[in-house]
Amino acid sequence: MDFPTFVGARKVAPDVTTFAGFFPIGPLGILPANAHFIHAREPILVDTSGVAFREQFIDELTKVIDPEDLKWIYVSHTDLDHIGNLEAVMRLAPNAKIVVPGLGAAKLGLREGFDMSRVQPMDHGQRLDLGDRELVLLKPPTYDAPETTGFFDTRTRVLFSVDSFGALMDAPYEELAAVPEATLRDGMATWSGIDAPWLGMVDKAKFGHLLADIERLDPAAIISGHLPVADRAVTQRLFRNMLGGVATRIAGPDRETIEGLFASPQGVF
Ligand SMILES: [Fe+2]
Ligand SMILES: [Fe+2]
Repeated sequence: MDFPTFVGARKVAPDVTTFAGFFPIGPLGILPANAHFIHAREPILVDTSGVAFREQFIDELTKVIDPEDLKWIYVSHTDLDHIGNLEAVMRLAPNAKIVVPGLGAAKLGLREGFDMSRVQPMDHGQRLDLGDRELVLLKPPTYDAPETTGFFDTRTRVLFSVDSFGALMDAPYEELAAVPEATLRDGMATWSGIDAPWLGMVDKAKFGHLLADIERLDPAAIISGHLPVADRAVTQRLFRNMLGGVATRIAGPDRETIEGLFASPQGVF
């Protein structure tokens, strides 16, 4: 795979449709890039995918819901792989409010012409009422932007982990079950090293407590921005891999690999 590739939308967990794509990251591998939709009484789009996928993403979104009926757009953080089509969706969905962490709201305010009147800042610990469930906002264990906030769905017990639990892989796997054990372990370590380089400096015991708190939620499934859906059968593997990554002092790619990325004719993305 040489170019960003959108593979489509499909139901992956209770009340969750995922819009799945993949970014080739040169010699580092292939990174899943997902947005999601929660089929709640008050429907909510979770992130808006990357600009490279705009046409197909919007096309699939309008098959899932009439954008006029969209009540909420959840912005996990302001990285471009998550807000690439935010303004485009806002134009199509005039009745949707933008839920975004406070610092993220401040960052959106720096974008040219952004309509701040539609923004509803909410941070971890708060609950968003969707009529038939609440989304309990929480901090994922790893992240690359300080505002990053995921959530736990009180009705389905699905956990949205944003960048956390992502993996660089050797192929565009659409099913986690198809990913070999070692590929997942190493791919999670590489991705975490890039996305959360500070992870190599954290105290393993403290990080273990943090992971244990999330594990105690007993999520029915974990949906990440950068991994195929993980159901309960595999979440244990993800927690183990994350903790193992801390023990091996995760390191990001070296200088030579970075140079190689930009030497490729199509660039990074
Ligand atoms: Fe990010
Ligand atoms: Fe991301």
